[in-house]
Amino acid sequence: MSLRLGDIAPNFKAITSIGEIDFYEYLGNSWGILFSHPADYTPVCTTELGKTALLKSEFEKRGTKVLALSVDPVDKHLGWINDINETQNCSVDFPIIADNDRHVSELYGFIHPNASATATVRSLVIIGPDKLVKLIITYPASTGRNFNEVLRVLDSLQLTAHYSVATPANWNHGEDVIVVPAVSTEDAQKKFPKGLNIVKPYLRYTPQPNID
Ligand code: BEZ
Repeated sequence: MSLRLGDIAPNFKAITSIGEIDFYEYLGNSWGILFSHPADYTPVCTTELGKTALLKSEFEKRGTKVLALSVDPVDKHLGWINDINETQNCSVDFPIIADNDRHVSELYGFIHPNASATATVRSLVIIGPDKLVKLIITYPASTGRNFNEVLRVLDSLQLTAHYSVATPANWNHGEDVIVVPAVSTEDAQKKFPKGLNIVKPYLRYTPQPNID
């Protein structure tokens, strides 16, 4: 199945490195990130899982729970986690799904047969508290993810979920945002008391509303 933005993220039960989980129960009302890896004991994935563990407080700050997945079995995950902790100076405590039967990979479209018949691609899905898919990014096996970008998109998604704004190219937390076209300038002046910078009638900036 191919998953698209706005779809309901399918629930599943899975064996993971921390035991059996029900995905929705694990997420609760949090945001979620589910990301797939081509295989255990691979170098790029080792750095990615290490980076995810080291960013634990950043994900917690954003009320976000993470889960990784590969199609290797749980005993292999456990041995690999020791290596990740040793080489990346971290402590992996988020679950890594052992998707030996590819149940979750197929639900989420993580197997791309023209890339590899057996291994999952390097995909990442952000899921909102409403369980809807908010972002899907897929990288080739040879390119490690940019976790600054993952955090940046989370910031944008969490901001735009609560305010009638969008974030411009290369935006980072703290920078000016764009008032969405659906809001009239008259209403925007009331909604955004920090002020508007009207460059064009359709291009109106305002300071990020949820910070002092
Ligand atoms: C890796 O995760 O390190 C990797 C996986 C497949 C091909 C190349 C690198």
